[in-house]
Amino acid sequence: MNKLVLVTGGTGYIGSHTVVELMNEGFDVVIIDNLSNSEKSVLNGIAEITGRRAYFEQFDICDKERLDNFFKVYKKLDAIIHFAAYKAVGESVEKPLMYYQNNLVSLMNLLNGMIEYDVPYIVFSSSCTVYGEPDELPVTEQAPIKLANSPYGNTKQISEEIIKDIISVNPNLKAIALRYFNPIGAHPSALIGELPIGVPNNLVPFITQTAIGIREELKVFGDDYNTSDGSAIRDYINVVDLAKAHVVSVKRMLEDKCKSNFEFFNLGTGKGSSVLEIVNAFEKAAGEKLKYKIVGRRAGDVESVYADTKFANEELGWKAEISLEETLLSAWNWEKYIQNKK
Ligand code: NAD
Ligand code: WQD
Repeated sequence: MNKLVLVTGGTGYIGSHTVVELMNEGFDVVIIDNLSNSEKSVLNGIAEITGRRAYFEQFDICDKERLDNFFKVYKKLDAIIHFAAYKAVGESVEKPLMYYQNNLVSLMNLLNGMIEYDVPYIVFSSSCTVYGEPDELPVTEQAPIKLANSPYGNTKQISEEIIKDIISVNPNLKAIALRYFNPIGAHPSALIGELPIGVPNNLVPFITQTAIGIREELKVFGDDYNTSDGSAIRDYINVVDLAKAHVVSVKRMLEDKCKSNFEFFNLGTGKGSSVLEIVNAFEKAAGEKLKYKIVGRRAGDVESVYADTKFANEELGWKAEISLEETLLSAWNWEKYIQNKK
């Protein structure tokens, strides 16, 4: 019988790509999503790619009673991958309570369910944001956790602490926290991808929306950083590569290969790219000229952050493989697909 994995937030950006990779590897998947930041039609994209349908339950994980009923119905869950959360850094500064409420209560309800209903394994979506402005580059998993510079970032730090405390008194549970760097791109089929609501905050959706004519021009936030071309550096990782790391993590737990009950891995490419390098790479990959101008720095941005991926490469046996050009082309193809559909 296939193993059954619960994917919370499975109709979202990273969740949907992970559901595809899980199903491609023979797992059965049940998604819980309240569709607060995604659409039900994503399920059709997943089905078209995999030839199978994931089970889908639409509700809010903060609703404990509803979640408990879910665990009673889906008695034999082998593992959970927990993506469901709010993720907009700026919005979290405006509405901190909404972020603490959603991101922490959902996690606590799930952990409670794992204990009550004997689900032993959870993979948690964490973020490189926990490292803040790192003292040393590339950033290893041992780098100190810096004071969070947003309520969103704080929810990721607190979530890791909550998981650690719960695991320490429940030896049957195991968790893996995956600290993503900057996920970008879309599935090569262009049937699923990122669906930003309103004006995108993130660089790549803003670039593709500018190239297709929805936005007038990209504003490059700062060219006075201490980097080769003055623009800020990040580690941009393809979302399909990222999704595959979740499958590897689930298998690691199922095969009892974890070295401790709570493990952390950086998920990045190990290579930093500046904003202007991304602009150039996009123009090359898409064959489109991009209108942009340099403006001042964005408040709260760090200068440079990219992952040391040695630990993930060696321990998980996973490596980001898809090139930056291919990734930017996939983002561009996805943008064209969604605009065509409108
Ligand atoms: P997303 O918004 O596309 O997906 C999250 C999904 O969770 C959405 O479909 C939303 O409807 C659902 N959701 C939110 N709260 C819920 C709740 N209480 N109950 C049920 N469903 C709920 O976001 P994403 O980019 O796919 O991110 C997934 C995870 O990865 C998040 O935890 C995010 O913080 C983390 N992460 C994302 C990035 C990034 O740049 N995208 C980087 C680092 C970490
Ligand atoms: C990347 C670079 C911008 C938009 C965020 C979250 C982080 C994590 C990943 C969840 C920066 C520059 C951007 C634009 C620009 N998410 N930029 N013009 O800020 O590295 O990380 O997403 O955990 O927590 O903070 O990503 O895509 O917003 O920015 O010049 O219109 O692009 O200044 O240098 P960021 P981003």
